[in-house]
Amino acid sequence: MSEILDVMAVVGSLRRDSFNRRLAQALAAIAPEALRIEVIHLGELPLYNQDDEQAPARVTTLFRDRVRHADAVLFVTPEYNRSIPGVLKNAIDIGSRPYGQNVWAGKPSAVISATPGALGAFGANHHLRQTLVAVDMPTMPQPEAYISGVDKVLDDSGRFVAPATQEFFSGFLGSFEAWVRRLTTVDARTAADQR
Ligand code: FNR
Repeated sequence: MSEILDVMAVVGSLRRDSFNRRLAQALAAIAPEALRIEVIHLGELPLYNQDDEQAPARVTTLFRDRVRHADAVLFVTPEYNRSIPGVLKNAIDIGSRPYGQNVWAGKPSAVISATPGALGAFGANHHLRQTLVAVDMPTMPQPEAYISGVDKVLDDSGRFVAPATQEFFSGFLGSFEAWVRRLTTVDARTAADQR
């Protein structure tokens, strides 16, 4: 793996002015140099249908290739009815199939949930973690990120309003980089052991 880590930011909202997407973009802007964060758009993905597995749409193949290429995945999601939005679950399902060709497997990940409400989208955060277990993604346990009042976190130009919030996210991204590198080292060691 190269020194620069290719991180996909997968956002669980298609809304034009999504707070979660703006947050993901703000994180890309403050990320350590070694984390290259690309915010991915899920809007063109078709609804997953097992009938299409043998002749997937081109957009599906491109998405699966993008995941395969990534060193890590950062999920930034709103909560819909105390769970994750369907668009995010759909994208995860698309990456997970055909059976035996799960492109998420082994990719280090982290979860940020954000809402204008008061409860930090905790339900979505933990439902997502449950699904990430199923698709075999080692997900950073700490620090956790349940962001309430996300509508007040960024200014009109997409910068953090409060220095303390930016500091929290800088720490989060630093921990994420360490998490990804730790798992990568373990993988490399396992491969060396098997030689
Ligand atoms: C919501 N919203 C919401 N918020 C929350 O904190 N808990 C919830 O369970 C829900 N449920 C919910 C369901 C549906 C169908 C919608 C459309 C919205 C409000 C949600 O947090 C708000 O719309 C955010 O602005 C969505 O995130 P983005 O699109 O701004 O990133």
